[in-house]
Amino acid sequence: MTTIPSITLNNGARIPQLGFGVWQVEDDAAEAAVRTAIEAGYRSIDTAAIYENEAGTGRGIAGAGVPREELYITTKLWNSGKRDWSGAQGQDAVLREFDSSLAKLGLEYVDLYLIHWPRPMHGSFENIWQAFEKLAADGRARSVGVSNFGPAQLDALAERSGVVPVLNQIELHPHFPQHELRAYHAEHGIATEAWSPLGQGKALLTEPALVQIAEKHGRTVAQVVLRWHLQSGVIAIPKSVTPSRIRENLDVAGFELDEADMAAVAATATGERLGPDPQGFDWN
Ligand SMILES: NC(=O)c1ccc[n+]([C@@H]2O[C@H](COP(=O)([O-])OP(=O)(O)OC[C@H]3O[C@@H](n4cnc5c(N)ncnc54)[C@H](OP(=O)(O)O)[C@@H]3O)[C@@H](O)[C@H]2O)c1
Repeated sequence: MTTIPSITLNNGARIPQLGFGVWQVEDDAAEAAVRTAIEAGYRSIDTAAIYENEAGTGRGIAGAGVPREELYITTKLWNSGKRDWSGAQGQDAVLREFDSSLAKLGLEYVDLYLIHWPRPMHGSFENIWQAFEKLAADGRARSVGVSNFGPAQLDALAERSGVVPVLNQIELHPHFPQHELRAYHAEHGIATEAWSPLGQGKALLTEPALVQIAEKHGRTVAQVVLRWHLQSGVIAIPKSVTPSRIRENLDVAGFELDEADMAAVAATATGERLGPDPQGFDWN
């Protein structure tokens, strides 16, 4: 089994630097994939209410039979733009959504609860964060954080709250390396977690420069990309429903990218996102 490095968060908790994501995985398939992942050695799982697979994820966790305290489970609040998240009522709604996620997962606590999108046009993420503070205080969310936030939203939280998000989960891969946001995070003690770390398995994995580095190390391009994340100090949560890939993506110890490799990976940056720009994102 591979040894996965971990990162210490700003509240002292530790998170494995490599986890397993389950976006776009049907509930039943999530059960099988999560179980396979945990049996392969993953200890961190990333789901979300909107993925509609928290129940399957929970069954996969239970089926793997690993002690709860050895696992790191993340889920996310779907702060839908259709609902009113303002005031005391909004905070109650957050607590109810959290209860629902816990029940589906079949867990007594999660290690990390995230606000899924800032939806700045609604002006409600600060109120939601107050409910997150309560969840952190009562320990049912061991850590709280955000996803897809930009500096403006992170500054707004810092102005009103003493609880700094432990991490910000953002789109990040060699094509879209997020240098500025990572620098902001480093300055403010916020860890960076990469979503779509493999570029959703698309063009990134056939980049000639990456193929060359993979051949040099006798590894796959996916392994090179994950190695780049780890050596960049980023937490990565690759998704796969393919057992051989689930194992492949975990097998990233035992080789190291040198300076020239890191530079060659960095040179593939295009600045193009795969997902929406969070500053304007408001799907329901
Ligand atoms: N917070 C957010 O807003 C947000 C947004 C997007 C994603 N996420 C999280 O981040 C996780 C990962 O992102 P993602 O699912 O978008 O994309 P990803 O992990 O970058 O890529 C997943 C895709 O790559 C393929 N793949 C995986 N390993 C491979 C390998 N070794 N070789 C070739 N292809 C491989 C998978 O195919 P198969 O499954 O068919 O093997 C799948 O199509 C999600 O599952 C979710 O947990 C969060």
